[in-house]
Amino acid sequence: MTDTREIFDLRLARSAPDLWPMLAQLYGDHPDYPSLRDTLLADMRAAWKARPADLKTLDLQRDLEPDWFQRPDMLGYVFYIDRFAGNLAGVHDKLDYLESLGVTYVHLMPCLKPRPGDSDGGYSVMDYRRINPAYGTMGDLQTLSKALRKRGMSLCIDMVLNHTAKEHAWAKKARAGDAAHRDMYLFFDDDTLPKAYEQTLIEIFPDNAPGSFTHYPDIGKWVWTTFNEHQWDLNWANPRVFVEIARIMLFLANKGVDVLRLDAVAFMWKRMGTRCQSEPEVHMILRALRAVTRICAASVLHLEEAIVGPAEMLTYFGRGEHDGREGNLAYHNNLMVQFWSALATRDTGLMTHVLRTHFPENLTNATYATYIRCHDDIGWAITDEDAGALGFSGAAHRTYLSDFYEGTFEGSFARGALFQENPATGDKRISGTFASLAGLELAQANADPDQIETAVQRILLGNALIASYGGVPLIYMGDEIALTNDYGYLHVPEHSHDSRWIHRPRMDWDRLKRAQSDPDSPEGQVLRGTRHIYARRKATPQLHGAHACRIRDTGNPALFAFQRIAPANTLLCLFNFSQTWQHVPGHWLRDNGVSDFHDALSGGAVDLENDMFAMPPLGRVWLT
Ligand code: GLC
Repeated sequence: MTDTREIFDLRLARSAPDLWPMLAQLYGDHPDYPSLRDTLLADMRAAWKARPADLKTLDLQRDLEPDWFQRPDMLGYVFYIDRFAGNLAGVHDKLDYLESLGVTYVHLMPCLKPRPGDSDGGYSVMDYRRINPAYGTMGDLQTLSKALRKRGMSLCIDMVLNHTAKEHAWAKKARAGDAAHRDMYLFFDDDTLPKAYEQTLIEIFPDNAPGSFTHYPDIGKWVWTTFNEHQWDLNWANPRVFVEIARIMLFLANKGVDVLRLDAVAFMWKRMGTRCQSEPEVHMILRALRAVTRICAASVLHLEEAIVGPAEMLTYFGRGEHDGREGNLAYHNNLMVQFWSALATRDTGLMTHVLRTHFPENLTNATYATYIRCHDDIGWAITDEDAGALGFSGAAHRTYLSDFYEGTFEGSFARGALFQENPATGDKRISGTFASLAGLELAQANADPDQIETAVQRILLGNALIASYGGVPLIYMGDEIALTNDYGYLHVPEHSHDSRWIHRPRMDWDRLKRAQSDPDSPEGQVLRGTRHIYARRKATPQLHGAHACRIRDTGNPALFAFQRIAPANTLLCLFNFSQTWQHVPGHWLRDNGVSDFHDALSGGAVDLENDMFAMPPLGRVWLT
């Protein structure tokens, strides 16, 4: 193999335009910039030198196969280590199970050393170089990463960029008065500036952590704390923060991490008079960080977490001059929101409008992470403009969705819990598991077999949607066996204030056994159906993430449709969001590329009667 220093230099040359001009724009005027720039380059060379040989080979392999994460065999599974398998060593015993689901990407929820006590589910990190001792050691993570790679699975972990725990060594030094460390955070002598910023900031946790700043009487200072009091925002205007975080990212990459989930990136840059979300500098920082990993750990991807409105989320893939140069993956929270909205209203008009108007058919060097539920709440990211385009009020629709999924709206099938109700804005978000929000919990409480069957079909509809839209579909632990809400969090002091714990249950291995031994039980049907959908996805080349996704208007509000346009032929994906049969004219299907009337999802032929195709309630097909 060519001398590996030469490879580093080639990669540096390739990505230099993404790195130095960004840093110069961000930090060029900072007095420490010239020396920190040298430090960064030296750190990068050192990280490359230290990179294990097997990972260097993986870098080359992925340089040669840059579409590896867009392929239809990609399927993610996301879990809390303790809730799924006890600890990192325990995860090994579950790999056969994950393989049996077809999983090729494993996201361990926050696993770096958190602060003691309430740590916001691990997102309050006090040491980025150590694993949470309750889960194991960095050595255990490396062992797991190797075991995963042997099975063709990649490893994703969280890297929190916006803040550290107030117990982090940097924060402790800052609190003790060290000027250099104070400058890594955002300290204020009085509340004048915090008050001025708060004019335009949006509260993230208004219920239990109101405001975006915290006053510490012991040091007489205010500190910027967007999320919880114990999460101190980093000062990304200081180049030292960039260098320190880049160093940590490379350290984790060299432990065998394939995907870094960059947490809460929207909040990284502050500007007076704005929401301090998704400011242009955020994208320069993310593009530069992407260049750093691309040079020193080319196989590593960045998944950027920004749960924002439609137009804003696309910027995390890099728009305009950053196109194709920022996140490789970003959460498609709008697809999730539209799924739940259409399921409640049984009308796909808004979904068709939003996904067609705001989302391009193709992305460059990137794809979505598609999901129906995650570990966070659902915020109804529906704009007044989009609702208005369909002739209704955004505020009223958002309130309706919260009421519907809380279960208080007359006739609702869902059971959920409110999260962070904000009387000032009328905003209320929703927690709940996929199965409970889809109606299984209520149906089982009513012991109603028809309702149970309907809930199962809703769950499979959601899976068929995220499996085919384009992107890496993510299964949240337990959704494959339809786990319902876990109310136990109310009795855990450090969780009871945070209803998101309702949908972070422990894995129920007994339920899995029942699902396996009784395939006709609701959990059995969901497990069988989920497996089937992802097996069919894997066998359907049109679902490659690089192929265009073109939203089609069926003219029937019950139906949502898109084409996946592959060079050889087009796949037409159709979903019935209503609870009644729907009929689609054969000519419409033919006009939309269907020729051999084969359903790649069921694997069978579809029949037309009088040139009409009949779709059952909550039905879904992928037609060629
Ligand atoms: C992200 C996480 C969420 C956490 C927040 C603050 O949004 O997904 O769980 O509360 O960041 O770290």
